[in-house]
Amino acid sequence: MSAFKSVYQQWLNQPEQFWMQAAEQIHWYRKPATALASDNPPFYHWFPDGTTNACYNAVDVHVNGGRGDQAALIYDSPVTETCTTITYAELLQRVERVAGMLTGLGVSVGDRVIIYMPMVPEAVIAMLACARIGAVHSVVFGGFAANELAVRIDDCTPKVILAASCGIEPGRVVEYKPLLDNAIDAANHKPDACVLLQRPQAIGTLVEGRDLDWVSTEAAATPADCVELDSNHPLYILYTSGTTGQPKGVVRDTAGGIVALKWTMKNIYNMDPGDVYWAASDVGWVVGHSYIVYAPLFNGNTSILYEGKPVGTPDPGAFWRVISQHRVRALFTAPTAFRAIKKDDPNGDYLKKYDTSCLESLFLAGERCDPDTLQWANDKLGVPVIDHWWQTETGWSICANCIGIEALPIVPGSPTLPVPGYNLKVLNASGEECPSGEIGALVIQQPLPPGTFPTLWGAPERYAESYFSTFPGYYETGDAGYVDENGYVFVMARTDDVINVAGHRLSTGAMEEVLASHPDVAECAVMGAADSLKGQLPVGLMVLSAGCDRPEADIVAEVISSVRNEIGPVAAFKSAVVVPRLPKTRSGKILRATMRAIADQTEWKMPATIDDPAILDEITDALQRIGYAGGKA
Ligand code: COA
Ligand code: AMP
Repeated sequence: MSAFKSVYQQWLNQPEQFWMQAAEQIHWYRKPATALASDNPPFYHWFPDGTTNACYNAVDVHVNGGRGDQAALIYDSPVTETCTTITYAELLQRVERVAGMLTGLGVSVGDRVIIYMPMVPEAVIAMLACARIGAVHSVVFGGFAANELAVRIDDCTPKVILAASCGIEPGRVVEYKPLLDNAIDAANHKPDACVLLQRPQAIGTLVEGRDLDWVSTEAAATPADCVELDSNHPLYILYTSGTTGQPKGVVRDTAGGIVALKWTMKNIYNMDPGDVYWAASDVGWVVGHSYIVYAPLFNGNTSILYEGKPVGTPDPGAFWRVISQHRVRALFTAPTAFRAIKKDDPNGDYLKKYDTSCLESLFLAGERCDPDTLQWANDKLGVPVIDHWWQTETGWSICANCIGIEALPIVPGSPTLPVPGYNLKVLNASGEECPSGEIGALVIQQPLPPGTFPTLWGAPERYAESYFSTFPGYYETGDAGYVDENGYVFVMARTDDVINVAGHRLSTGAMEEVLASHPDVAECAVMGAADSLKGQLPVGLMVLSAGCDRPEADIVAEVISSVRNEIGPVAAFKSAVVVPRLPKTRSGKILRATMRAIADQTEWKMPATIDDPAILDEITDALQRIGYAGGKA
C-alpha cells in the first residue's frame, strides 16, 4: 500500500484516534480525554473537554521554544514600497499590547470584534490579539461596500471595530473610513468604539467619543496574557456568500482549527518549522485566515504578508521577486493570479530575472484550475503545481495531493484525492452513489473533521438546513463533480447560485437583489459567464417594468453603479443587458444554466419547459450585444 493510502486508511479505520494523535502536536492547558462529542448531529464538537488558546499556539509557544528571533511575518508591500520583518518575539510584544488595548476597551471572552483592514501587519496582530483574549474576530474584506459591512455588523454585533484609514489598490487609494462611518450609520447595532490605524495615504477623521487612534491607544495599553479557552470556543466568524443576500457566518472553533491546520502544514504542504511560506491572498478570505495567519504561525514558519497584485505592482515579475527575495519554499494562490501573469508575460521573460530555485511547490485553490494554467505554471516554474479543493466552510483542504506524506501523480483538472478527515461521495439526486465518471453532488460523510465549521453564527437552523438536509448524514459541499476510476476527484461546478470571480466567492442572488431594487427593473437574473482571466464574471439580464421608456444604457449604468456601491468593487459587475423576457421552468424557476451555456457557447439542450423557443433567440441576441454568445463587445 502506498504511504498516502496507508495514512488515509489509518484515519478511516480509527478517525478519533487519528485526530487525538494529531492533537498531541499542539499546546493544551488541559489535554482532551474525549476526541469527539457526537450526541447532537449535525452538530459535532472535537476535543470537547480540552482547553487551549490559538494565539499561544501561534506566537508564545515559539518564543518560549527558542524561535523568538526568527521572522514570523515578512510584510512586503510594493504598493507602499515597504518591506519589514517582524520576529516572533516582536510579534508577541505587539499582540500582547493590542490584546491589552482591546481589554481596556471592555472587550472580553466571547465578545465580537470586526476587523476591516487591508494587508498590513496590524490586521494579523489584531486577529491574534482577539484570539489571545478569547474575543471572536470577524474580518471583513476591504473590497466590500459599506452595506456589506453593515450587514455583518448587525449579524455579529461587535463591541469594537478595528480598521485602517485606507487600502491601496493599484492606481487608487480606497478610503475605508467613510465606508466604515456609512456602515455604522446604516447598521442597527452600534459598536462601543472604533480604533483606526491611520495610514499616511489617507488620514481618516475620528468621530469624537467613539473613535480612537490606534498608535496612541496601543502605546498606552497594558499587555494582556493568553486566556485559557474551551476547545469549542469560537475563534472567528468569517462571512461567505450563500444563495441570498444574507451572508453565512461561518464559525471556526479554537482547538479543531489549531490541530487540523498544524497537521496540514507538514502533511499537505510539506513545510517544516522555519521555512518561508507564502499564501498570496488576503486576510479577508479563508485562505488568508488559514494560510497567511494561523497555519504557518502554528507551524513556526515565516509567513509572507504581501500587499500587492500579481501584475502591475510593478510588473508580472512581482511574484518571482518575492519568492527569490524571501526564499519562499511554497507558494499558495488562486489560478486567476497565474492567468493574469501569463496574460502579461506569456513567455515568462520576467521569471528569467530572478532566482526562484528555493521554490519547491505551487498550490492553487479558490476556483477550478484549468489544465492550461496548471501546465503553464509547471513549465515555467519547474515545480509541482498542486491543485487543491476546499471552501470557507471547511477551512482546509477536502482534496489535495498530500506531498508531505507522498507526492502522487498530478492529473491536470483534478485536485487529486480526498484528504484524511474527508470521506467523500458523489451522489445523484436520489441520494444514490454515482458510478465513477458520472457527475453528481460532492458530499462528505459526517462528522466533518476538526478545523471545519461547527455551526453558522447565530443560525444553527440555517446550518442544518443549508448543508445537511438534502442528503441526510452528509455535508453538502455545494459543488458538483465526479471521481474517476483511480479515485481522482474532479470538481466541475457549483450546484447553487454562487459564482467564483478571480477566486472571490460571490452570490448572484445578492446581485439580483440589487438589480431588482431598481425602480425600472421588473425581473432579473444574474449568472456567471466564463472569463479567460477571472474564471467567471457576473452578467445581469433585466426585464424592464411595463411602460419604462428610459434608454437602456442609463439603466445599465445605474445598476452597475448600484452593485458597486451596495456589494462592492470586488463583485466586478460590469455587464448587464435588457431582455424582453426570461426563460423559466413551468414552476417559474429562471433557467440560468441554459442562459449560461448560451453565453459561454457550450452545448445545451432546448429545455422541455420552454413553450416558445424564440425566447432563447432573444437571450442570444441580447448576450451577443454585450460580447457574449459569440458576439463582440
Ligand atoms: N479593497 C478595495 N478594493 C478592492 C480590493 C480591496 N482589498 N480588492 C479588489 N478590489 C477592487 C479592485 O480594485 C477592482 O476594482 P476596479 O473595478 O475599480 O478595477 C475590483 O475590486 C475587482 O477586483 P479583482 O477581481 O481582484 O480584479 P483586479 O483586476 O483588481 O485584479 C487579479 C485581478 C487576477 C490580479 C486579482 O484578482 C488577483 O490577484 N487575484 C489573485 C488571487 C486572490 O487574491 N484570490 C483570493 C482567494 S485565494
Ligand atoms: P471559498 O469558500 O471562497 O473558498 O470558495 C469555495 C468554492 O470555490 C468551492 O466550493 C468551489 O466551488 C471553488 N473551489 C475552491 N477550490 C477549488 C478547486 N481547487 N477546484 C474547483 N473549485 C474550487
